[in-house]
Amino acid sequence: MNFKDAIYFSLPDRLPEKKSFKEGIRRAPQRSFTLNKKEMEIAMKNALRYIPEDLHDEIIPEFLDELITKGRIYGYRFRPDVEIKGKPIDSYRGKITEAKAFQVMIDNNLDFEVALYPYELVTYGESGQVFQNWMQYNLVKKYLEEMTDEQTLVIYSGHPVGLFPTSKKAPRVISTNAMLVGLYDNLDDFNKAASIGVSNYGQMTAGGWMYIGPQGIVHGTYITVINAGRLYLGIPDDKDISGIVFLSSGLGGMSGAQPKAVEIAGGIGVIAEVDYSRIKTRYDQGWVSKISDDPEEIVGWIDEYRKSKNPVSIAYHGNIVDLLEYFVDNHIPIELISDQTSCHDVYGGGYTPAGYSFEEGRKLLETDPDKFKEEVDRSLRKHYELITKMDEQGSHFWDYGNSFLKAVYDAGVRDVAKDPENPSMGFVYPSYVENIMGPMCFDYGYGPFRWVCLSGKREDLKKTDQAAMSCIDPDRRGMDRDNYHWIKNAEKNELVVGTQARILYADAPGRIAIALKFNKMIKDGEIGPVMIGRDHHDVSGTDSPFRETSNIKDGSNVTADMAVHNFAGDAVRGMSMVVLSNGGGVGVGKAINGGFGLVLDGTDLKDEIIRSAMEWDVMNGVARRAWARNENSLETAAEWNRQNRDKGHITLPYLTDETKIKEAIEKYLK
Ligand SMILES: NC(=O)c1ccc[n+]([C@@H]2O[C@H](COP(=O)([O-])OP(=O)(O)OC[C@H]3O[C@@H](n4cnc5c(N)ncnc54)[C@H](O)[C@@H]3O)[C@@H](O)[C@H]2O)c1
Repeated sequence: MNFKDAIYFSLPDRLPEKKSFKEGIRRAPQRSFTLNKKEMEIAMKNALRYIPEDLHDEIIPEFLDELITKGRIYGYRFRPDVEIKGKPIDSYRGKITEAKAFQVMIDNNLDFEVALYPYELVTYGESGQVFQNWMQYNLVKKYLEEMTDEQTLVIYSGHPVGLFPTSKKAPRVISTNAMLVGLYDNLDDFNKAASIGVSNYGQMTAGGWMYIGPQGIVHGTYITVINAGRLYLGIPDDKDISGIVFLSSGLGGMSGAQPKAVEIAGGIGVIAEVDYSRIKTRYDQGWVSKISDDPEEIVGWIDEYRKSKNPVSIAYHGNIVDLLEYFVDNHIPIELISDQTSCHDVYGGGYTPAGYSFEEGRKLLETDPDKFKEEVDRSLRKHYELITKMDEQGSHFWDYGNSFLKAVYDAGVRDVAKDPENPSMGFVYPSYVENIMGPMCFDYGYGPFRWVCLSGKREDLKKTDQAAMSCIDPDRRGMDRDNYHWIKNAEKNELVVGTQARILYADAPGRIAIALKFNKMIKDGEIGPVMIGRDHHDVSGTDSPFRETSNIKDGSNVTADMAVHNFAGDAVRGMSMVVLSNGGGVGVGKAINGGFGLVLDGTDLKDEIIRSAMEWDVMNGVARRAWARNENSLETAAEWNRQNRDKGHITLPYLTDETKIKEAIEKYLK
């Protein structure tokens, strides 16, 4: 069998030098490793597929050591020697703008300043990887350097399957992550597949190459916190949350947005974090203003800022459980409470149990994972008990989409579920999407639209901020007023970490108007090319019963048709890149999420794609939400039908009188 003469794209036929690791860069914990000998053999053979045969003798012991000590073969040696960061697009090699743009996005996701565990290719969310290993990174780069505008690169869980002929209007990259067959769609089987080297947990924008640093989530967190104040505390629409305390935990990839968002919303943020290195990162960035490991000192600051009504953000270095305990014991009133520890991966290192420092927790996880699990469960039960006590004292708690309540349930607290036998019926505390983001944003079509100025010029970002602001009418709805306020102050708030990027929640007409305006500015030579996209955590991109679709009440929240259709619909309409992944923030088997990237280059073709694809990308979800009888979506979809009579039509439901049904059922069952 001779096929080797047909390998035209491969890694160099010489092994790169063995690498040392830079001090102070966070490293991923050992991942679950349950392979038997036979499976280890497969894992090794799989990784060696990327490497020319005459190099195998030298690399085999190294790969084996990685597999056993890390639980994965990352191929550290293949990490490039150059500094990895999202550089200006012109510094990349490639035949087309799109292919160079993807390289900017990939490198930004792996930047030491941006990524959570850059050596292990993890961008954020404890386990969200860009690729499974560095061999894939190198091979994808090679393909991107060669790709033309009539080819599409196909990627399965980070592995480039190949470059196939398509057309100018087709996506340039189609990628999927961790798409497991139903029977194996669970964490244990995923971990096995990942160790074997055939599956990647892409989270959302890690494997989707659209992460823009914690800024991406600041706007959503700002919207959540300010609207929580309105919903739970009756704060009027034109006021902020000054003098109000928001208590939470986590200063990691996404959770690190919390202190900044609360400050922008005018409030007092207190965020617990066990890992000092993460506190330091946020402090150095100016995203958190004060640090203390002393609850008493923190209470003093709370009092001071309640009086002055000035915004402030405070990092507590310690376990959230200890801080809550102090607040309960000392009857400290806190209005708003949530949690953003990585509970989607609670036993894999995402949650440090009370009684252990961060380092002690990591050590226990490595040496005795069963005991670690026991300790996590004990801590979660205590954590929840303290929340219920704070609730009795007048606090309002919501789940931040990190599977906290599900983790508490799994730790043995059955009455945290509305139906103790069936947690899919929801929990006794709301999730932030169920009460806030869902009805107030997603149902209208507002979602986390974002863009990256690929020139790398700050000047371009300033111009796009101004342009986007001119597309928003602050008097239309409360949401528009908040978004206007956000973009007006975005530069002043110094949100950029990594590439020159911006997030701005917008609805379908808003996103289309902004994108068209940018494309025109590129055509007129005012700015360089721009990549637009969104977080997958959006109106239509994600089916997740514990989160994005938690306010869908027609029973369809167990289905993933919307996310799959979004991916297909975005692809046929010509988005530059489309991605579909399993899991996301809530974990394997609990969500299907998808996203897109569209590279704007000033051409008429891109105008055409913006008009059709951007509209579909939002209205798909609005249509589904309207069919589920969500009030604000009914209004939005009906308006779309009125304006598009000759173009299309969304199927709208007839509504019934619920009491009629209840009575009929009662009567029948008697
Ligand atoms: N921000 C959002 O809008 C949003 C939305 C949906 C879901 N989430 C979820 O929030 C979670 C956090 O995401 P991330 O990217 O920040 O993850 P991350 O792993 O980068 O950060 C979590 C942080 O929590 C800290 N931590 C763990 N246990 C702790 C404890 N007991 N006390 C204090 N600190 C503790 C960790 O040290 C870590 O820094 C994920 O599950 C994510 O899916 C966030």
